[in-house]
Amino acid sequence: PIVILDFGSQYTQLIARRLREVGVYCEIYPYFEDIEKIKEKSPQGIIFSGGPASVYEPDAPRVDKAIYDLGLPILGICYGMQLITVDFGGEVIRALHHEYGKAKLYFDPIHGHVSPLFEGTKDGQVVWMSHGDKVEELPEGFVRIAHTDNSPYAAIANEQKQIYALQFHPEVSHSEEGQKILENFARRICKIESKWDMGHFAKEQIEKIRKQVGNDKVLCALSGGVDSSVVTALLYEAIGDQLIPVFVDNGLLREGEREKVEHVFKNMLQVPLVVIDGQKKFLEALKGVTEPEQKRKIIGHTFIELFEEEAKKHKDVKYLAQGTLYPDVIESVSVKGPSETIKSHHNVGGLPDWMQFELIEPLRELFKDEVRKLGLELGLPREMVYRHPFPGPGLAIRILGEVNEESLQLVRRADTILLEEIKAHGLYEKLWQSFAVLLNVKSVGVMGDKRTYENTVALRIVESSDGMTATFAHIPHDLLELISNRIINEVDGINRVVYDITSKPPGTIEWE
Ligand code: XMP
Repeated sequence: PIVILDFGSQYTQLIARRLREVGVYCEIYPYFEDIEKIKEKSPQGIIFSGGPASVYEPDAPRVDKAIYDLGLPILGICYGMQLITVDFGGEVIRALHHEYGKAKLYFDPIHGHVSPLFEGTKDGQVVWMSHGDKVEELPEGFVRIAHTDNSPYAAIANEQKQIYALQFHPEVSHSEEGQKILENFARRICKIESKWDMGHFAKEQIEKIRKQVGNDKVLCALSGGVDSSVVTALLYEAIGDQLIPVFVDNGLLREGEREKVEHVFKNMLQVPLVVIDGQKKFLEALKGVTEPEQKRKIIGHTFIELFEEEAKKHKDVKYLAQGTLYPDVIESVSVKGPSETIKSHHNVGGLPDWMQFELIEPLRELFKDEVRKLGLELGLPREMVYRHPFPGPGLAIRILGEVNEESLQLVRRADTILLEEIKAHGLYEKLWQSFAVLLNVKSVGVMGDKRTYENTVALRIVESSDGMTATFAHIPHDLLELISNRIINEVDGINRVVYDITSKPPGTIEWE
């Protein structure tokens, strides 16, 4: 693979994506990753990402210089370029004018040859700059291979050592031919020939899991969401009956959810799913609770209690499988330190001490869209793989106020109608999420000459690429009208429907 060292740039993940899109496998590690660990990956090339620091600050992130002795091709991007410059004895200074935005890149051929990095791309291509520091003096052995009007050293290289560096960001889509440049680095300079895809990934992971697990048993919690479904399917393919997949029905699920999960796993994939009936326990624990964080905590604890009970029945379990994705990993090894808790998300973290499982996280190098491809590869139905995310605490955080049978019934019915219409109008896969929220607001209405005084539902329909930011979807008014009419006519107890027009930030996607 190509190893990408992350210096905290918001674009690091994009470097990985661009390369994987052209079939080059890569993995991301924090810049301080132990060099021995990096060697274990047998990398064929290294990329230094950009980052927010200035190299001349005293606590600026640095790499172990032994990395330069591995004899591997290196590509530095932005901060990565400045670091290479300084490490090889050149000079970096604060630029008088910060350069931000598009620039045209002109090649500087060496002995009449354009750098292999730029092969097949055009002279004068648009590249995207975003930097406050710049290279003032080249280190020995380096030459410039391209410039822009503002940056005499937009790209530099030491071809003998196979070290390349770019001041611009090839990974962002504003850099017209950036992907080709990254591909050139991988294919022409690092000489990576293999074509990587999800089929390969699945095979590699299955081998790896078999080796790691041996004859031991693995427990996994299936929520019915995309990630845990893919983990379950992958593990079952790898180790068959050594897998104990547990599905907890917490009573906070969408209509037909449990049946759907049982059908796909038990009937289609023949996975021996353990289904735990938890409805009563969860509802009891949630009685009278209205505070959002308290709801989340109670649900998390109750889940762990039930999970623990099940685990006790299988004494020889050594591993716990989790659907951790790449974005979760990078947040937890964040170069910048932990970010503030906005909401306490619940997965199978926080298990009690006695449950000392080793973790298996086969998706930790993947992005959501890659997980979906893997799911299809493993034979999960498209409907399962392309479904909207659904939070661990379920409908409980879509009911403002107390969660009980009645409020669950209202929100569940409204949710089903909304999803039916969104699907019928071909919008489902274009949206990140669409769901109903039951408000603790009653209002007066009139139906068939009679006064009503009933509940309100808010429709939350958003577009997003990763859930970190989102915009409310511009749903046609006719469709909103249809949904509103259906909900009010078909759900007894709801007499008003409103549309949430808040984006994230400042709103979050869920209401609690
Ligand atoms: P927010 O509401 O924080 O949601 O903007 C961002 C995304 O995360 C989902 N979400 C959760 N997922 N456990 C989960 O597995 C949780 O506790 C949880 N809370 C929110 C939410 O549905 C959205 O896609």
